[in-house]
Amino acid sequence: KRIVILISGRGSNMEAIVEACAAERWPATVAAVVSNRPEARGLQFAASRGIAAEAVDHKQYETREAFDAELARVIDRHAPDVVVLAGFMRILTARFVEHYAGRMINIHPSLLPAFPGLHTHRRAIELGCKLAGATVHYVTAELDHGPIIIQAVEPVHPDDTEDSLSQRILAKEHVIYPRAVRWIVSDELHLRDGVVTHRGSEP
Ligand code: GRF
Repeated sequence: KRIVILISGRGSNMEAIVEACAAERWPATVAAVVSNRPEARGLQFAASRGIAAEAVDHKQYETREAFDAELARVIDRHAPDVVVLAGFMRILTARFVEHYAGRMINIHPSLLPAFPGLHTHRRAIELGCKLAGATVHYVTAELDHGPIIIQAVEPVHPDDTEDSLSQRILAKEHVIYPRAVRWIVSDELHLRDGVVTHRGSEP
Protein backbone atom coordinates (compact mmCIF):
# COMPACT_ATOMS: atom_id res chain seq x y z
CA LYS A 1 0.00 0.00 0.00
CA ARG A 2 1.10 3.54 -0.68
CA ILE A 3 0.75 6.31 1.89
CA VAL A 4 0.91 10.06 1.18
CA ILE A 5 1.07 12.34 4.23
CA LEU A 6 0.06 16.02 4.17
CA ILE A 7 1.56 18.40 6.73
CA SER A 8 1.80 22.13 7.40
CA GLY A 9 4.51 22.42 10.03
CA ARG A 10 6.31 20.43 12.70
CA GLY A 11 5.17 17.07 11.41
CA SER A 12 5.56 15.05 14.59
CA ASN A 13 2.58 12.83 13.75
CA MET A 14 4.03 12.24 10.29
CA GLU A 15 7.33 11.24 11.92
CA ALA A 16 5.55 8.80 14.22
CA ILE A 17 3.87 7.19 11.20
CA VAL A 18 7.11 6.98 9.18
CA GLU A 19 8.91 5.40 12.17
CA ALA A 20 6.14 2.90 12.88
CA CYS A 21 5.87 1.93 9.20
CA ALA A 22 9.57 1.00 9.21
CA ALA A 23 9.81 -0.48 12.72
CA GLU A 24 6.65 -2.60 12.45
CA ARG A 25 7.29 -3.58 8.82
CA TRP A 26 3.90 -2.54 7.54
CA PRO A 27 2.91 -3.82 4.10
CA ALA A 28 3.22 -0.21 2.96
CA THR A 29 5.57 2.63 2.10
CA VAL A 30 5.29 6.33 2.78
CA ALA A 31 5.53 7.44 -0.85
CA ALA A 32 5.54 11.19 -0.23
CA VAL A 33 5.13 13.97 2.31
CA VAL A 34 3.50 17.11 0.93
CA SER A 35 3.26 20.47 2.70
CA ASN A 36 1.36 23.64 1.86
CA ARG A 37 4.21 25.54 3.56
CA PRO A 38 7.60 25.21 1.86
CA GLU A 39 9.37 25.96 5.17
CA ALA A 40 7.59 23.19 7.11
CA ARG A 41 10.06 21.46 9.39
CA GLY A 42 8.61 18.06 8.62
CA LEU A 43 9.77 18.23 4.99
CA GLN A 44 13.40 18.04 6.11
CA PHE A 45 12.72 14.95 8.17
CA ALA A 46 10.97 13.27 5.23
CA ALA A 47 13.81 14.10 2.85
CA SER A 48 16.34 12.78 5.39
CA ARG A 49 14.51 9.44 5.21
CA GLY A 50 14.63 9.35 1.43
CA ILE A 51 10.92 10.11 1.14
CA ALA A 52 9.75 12.43 -1.64
CA ALA A 53 9.20 15.77 0.12
CA GLU A 54 7.19 18.29 -1.86
CA ALA A 55 5.62 21.68 -1.26
CA VAL A 56 2.55 23.17 -2.87
CA ASP A 57 2.53 26.72 -1.52
CA HIS A 58 -1.09 27.80 -1.08
CA LYS A 59 -0.04 31.46 -1.30
CA GLN A 60 0.81 30.95 -4.98
CA TYR A 61 -2.81 30.16 -5.85
CA GLU A 62 -5.62 32.64 -6.22
CA THR A 63 -8.42 30.31 -5.29
CA ARG A 64 -8.93 27.28 -3.09
CA GLU A 65 -10.03 25.38 -6.19
CA ALA A 66 -6.75 26.10 -8.00
CA PHE A 67 -4.68 25.15 -4.94
CA ASP A 68 -6.62 21.94 -4.36
CA ALA A 69 -6.35 20.95 -8.03
CA GLU A 70 -2.55 21.30 -7.96
CA LEU A 71 -2.35 19.54 -4.59
CA ALA A 72 -4.36 16.61 -5.94
CA ARG A 73 -2.11 16.45 -9.02
CA VAL A 74 1.02 16.25 -6.84
CA ILE A 75 -0.55 13.67 -4.52
CA ASP A 76 -1.88 11.51 -7.36
CA ARG A 77 1.53 11.28 -9.00
CA HIS A 78 2.36 9.06 -6.01
CA ALA A 79 -0.76 6.90 -6.52
CA PRO A 80 -1.75 6.73 -2.83
CA ASP A 81 -4.06 4.13 -1.33
CA VAL A 82 -4.41 6.33 1.73
CA VAL A 83 -3.96 10.08 2.20
CA VAL A 84 -3.09 11.05 5.77
CA LEU A 85 -3.69 14.62 7.00
CA ALA A 86 -1.23 15.20 9.84
CA GLY A 87 -1.45 18.74 11.10
CA PHE A 88 -2.49 19.93 7.63
CA MET A 89 -3.99 23.33 8.28
CA ARG A 90 -5.98 24.09 5.12
CA ILE A 91 -9.69 23.77 4.59
CA LEU A 92 -10.28 21.51 1.61
CA THR A 93 -12.87 21.93 -1.13
CA ALA A 94 -15.74 19.45 -1.36
CA ARG A 95 -14.40 18.34 -4.73
CA PHE A 96 -10.99 17.46 -3.26
CA VAL A 97 -12.61 15.60 -0.36
CA GLU A 98 -14.86 13.70 -2.75
CA HIS A 99 -11.87 12.68 -4.88
CA TYR A 100 -10.33 10.93 -1.84
CA ALA A 101 -13.58 9.71 -0.30
CA GLY A 102 -13.01 6.66 1.89
CA ARG A 103 -9.22 6.87 1.62
CA MET A 104 -8.36 10.14 3.40
CA ILE A 105 -8.04 10.41 7.17
CA ASN A 106 -7.31 13.19 9.66
CA ILE A 107 -6.28 13.56 13.29
CA HIS A 108 -8.03 16.18 15.37
CA PRO A 109 -6.96 17.10 18.91
CA SER A 110 -10.32 16.69 20.65
CA LEU A 111 -12.84 14.00 21.42
CA LEU A 112 -15.05 14.59 18.38
CA PRO A 113 -17.85 15.48 17.95
CA ALA A 114 -16.84 17.89 20.74
CA PHE A 115 -14.74 20.89 19.70
CA PRO A 116 -14.31 20.81 15.95
CA GLY A 117 -12.13 23.68 14.70
CA LEU A 118 -9.25 25.47 16.39
CA HIS A 119 -8.06 25.96 20.00
CA THR A 120 -9.55 22.70 21.17
CA HIS A 121 -7.49 22.37 24.36
CA ARG A 122 -8.09 25.96 25.44
CA ARG A 123 -11.83 25.56 24.95
CA ALA A 124 -11.88 22.26 26.86
CA ILE A 125 -10.06 23.84 29.81
CA GLU A 126 -12.24 26.97 29.78
CA LEU A 127 -15.41 24.88 29.85
CA GLY A 128 -14.16 22.77 32.75
CA CYS A 129 -14.05 19.51 30.80
CA LYS A 130 -12.62 16.69 32.88
CA LEU A 131 -11.62 14.64 29.85
CA ALA A 132 -10.00 15.68 26.59
CA GLY A 133 -8.26 13.72 23.86
CA ALA A 134 -7.75 13.17 20.16
CA THR A 135 -9.67 11.53 17.31
CA VAL A 136 -8.62 9.91 14.05
CA HIS A 137 -11.45 9.98 11.50
CA TYR A 138 -12.22 9.61 7.82
CA VAL A 139 -12.48 13.00 6.13
CA THR A 140 -15.86 14.14 4.87
CA ALA A 141 -16.91 17.50 3.44
CA GLU A 142 -17.82 18.87 6.87
CA LEU A 143 -14.75 20.09 8.80
CA ASP A 144 -13.63 17.76 11.61
CA HIS A 145 -16.53 15.39 11.09
CA GLY A 146 -16.61 11.96 9.53
CA PRO A 147 -16.56 8.34 10.66
CA ILE A 148 -14.40 7.85 13.75
CA ILE A 149 -11.59 5.29 13.58
CA ILE A 150 -9.92 5.59 16.98
CA GLN A 151 -9.84 7.97 19.93
CA ALA A 152 -7.51 8.54 22.87
CA VAL A 153 -8.74 10.06 26.08
CA GLU A 154 -6.68 12.17 28.47
CA PRO A 155 -7.81 13.53 31.85
CA VAL A 156 -7.67 17.31 32.27
CA HIS A 157 -5.77 18.25 35.44
CA PRO A 158 -6.99 21.19 37.56
CA ASP A 159 -3.72 23.08 36.95
CA ASP A 160 -3.47 22.26 33.23
CA THR A 161 -2.56 24.95 30.73
CA GLU A 162 -3.18 24.74 27.00
CA ASP A 163 0.50 23.77 26.68
CA SER A 164 0.65 21.06 29.30
CA LEU A 165 -2.58 19.45 28.11
CA SER A 166 -1.63 19.58 24.44
CA GLN A 167 1.75 17.97 25.19
CA ARG A 168 0.15 14.98 26.89
CA ILE A 169 -2.45 14.64 24.15
CA LEU A 170 0.19 14.89 21.42
CA ALA A 171 2.03 11.94 22.97
CA LYS A 172 -1.18 9.93 22.64
CA GLU A 173 -1.71 11.14 19.06
CA HIS A 174 1.65 9.58 18.25
CA VAL A 175 0.26 6.25 19.45
CA ILE A 176 -3.20 6.26 17.88
CA TYR A 177 -2.37 7.76 14.50
CA PRO A 178 0.21 5.14 13.47
CA ARG A 179 -2.18 2.47 14.78
CA ALA A 180 -5.03 3.77 12.59
CA VAL A 181 -2.82 3.90 9.49
CA ARG A 182 -1.53 0.39 10.17
CA TRP A 183 -5.12 -0.89 10.38
CA ILE A 184 -5.88 0.70 7.02
CA VAL A 185 -2.82 -0.56 5.16
CA SER A 186 -3.48 -4.02 6.60
CA ASP A 187 -7.13 -3.91 5.43
CA GLU A 188 -8.41 -4.28 8.98
CA LEU A 189 -11.07 -1.57 8.88
CA HIS A 190 -14.58 -1.78 7.60
CA LEU A 191 -16.58 1.37 6.82
CA ARG A 192 -20.33 1.01 6.42
CA ASP A 193 -23.11 3.58 6.74
CA GLY A 194 -20.71 6.08 8.26
CA VAL A 195 -19.56 3.71 11.01
CA VAL A 196 -16.10 2.16 11.22
CA THR A 197 -15.48 -1.24 12.72
CA HIS A 198 -12.17 -2.96 13.27
CA ARG A 199 -12.09 -6.52 11.98
CA GLY A 200 -11.03 -7.90 15.32
CA SER A 201 -14.05 -6.37 17.06
CA GLU A 202 -16.72 -7.49 14.61
CA PRO A 203 -19.13 -10.15 15.86
C1 GRF B 1 -1.62 17.95 16.17
O1 GRF B 1 -2.00 18.30 17.47
C2 GRF B 1 -2.82 17.55 15.38
O2 GRF B 1 -3.80 16.89 16.13
C3 GRF B 1 -3.35 18.88 14.93
O3 GRF B 1 -2.21 19.64 14.66
C4 GRF B 1 -1.12 19.15 15.40
C5 GRF B 1 -0.05 18.78 14.42
O4 GRF B 1 1.17 18.48 15.01
N1 GRF B 1 -4.28 18.71 13.84
P1 GRF B 1 2.33 17.81 14.16
O5 GRF B 1 2.56 18.69 12.94
O6 GRF B 1 1.91 16.43 13.78
O7 GRF B 1 3.54 17.81 15.05
